[in-house]
Amino acid sequence: MNRRNFIKATLATLAMAALPKISKTQNVKGKKMKILVLTGSPRKNGNSNTLADNFIKGAKESGHQVERFNAAFAEVHPCIGCNKCGMNGPCIFKDDFEFVRQNIVDADVVVFATPMYYFGVSAQLKNVVDRFYAINGQIHRPKKAVLLMTYANTSASQAEPIKSHYQTLIDYLGWQDAGQIIASGVWPVGAVNQTQYPKQAYELGKNIG
Ligand SMILES: Cc1cc2nc3c(=O)[nH]c(=O)nc-3n(C[C@H](O)[C@H](O)[C@H](O)COP(=O)(O)O)c2cc1C
Repeated sequence: MNRRNFIKATLATLAMAALPKISKTQNVKGKKMKILVLTGSPRKNGNSNTLADNFIKGAKESGHQVERFNAAFAEVHPCIGCNKCGMNGPCIFKDDFEFVRQNIVDADVVVFATPMYYFGVSAQLKNVVDRFYAINGQIHRPKKAVLLMTYANTSASQAEPIKSHYQTLIDYLGWQDAGQIIASGVWPVGAVNQTQYPKQAYELGKNIG
């Protein structure tokens, strides 16, 4: 290498070293992220879907790429624990979970939007989460997560089982909580529109990252 090329190469190396180290999955302010929203309500215009709509609106306005999977309107067979996937392989069921499989692995953010059903997430959403089993080996990587949950009661303590389940799940997967909207006191379809929660969901989507 001649002297000129040596100096050029040295300067280039120094410039690279001066740049902040950003891993592929690390989110930095301004980075356009891939977001997967998993919804669990069978009520199309229901309260948790309204929160999801608002979150998505904000996230898209900030330039993020959003994919949405409506579990209650999809065909997802419950996991039967056959273990054919070995926790990291093809599932015996070829159904709409394929969409989740294709979009979750490289998602930067995963959003869980669900109504409270008897102090847990809806069965439709839990069905999807249980099918994570077949891709368990691929989703243990840094991601952010968001919880959007609606329920009729106004007791904060009754939201604890879902919050605890969500936190335990994301801790296990190595994901980081990026925000929660816990919308209490909303029962009929549209009730959430009379509250500040949709705006909060919009702001959360807008500022995610
Ligand atoms: C099967 C079922 C179980 C429910 N369980 C609870 C519950 O345990 N606690 C509660 O506060 N509300 C409960 N609710 C009310 C819903 O959580 C509430 O209406 C929520 O806003 C519905 O969200 P969605 O409109 O997104 O479907 C239940 C509703 C249904 C249909």
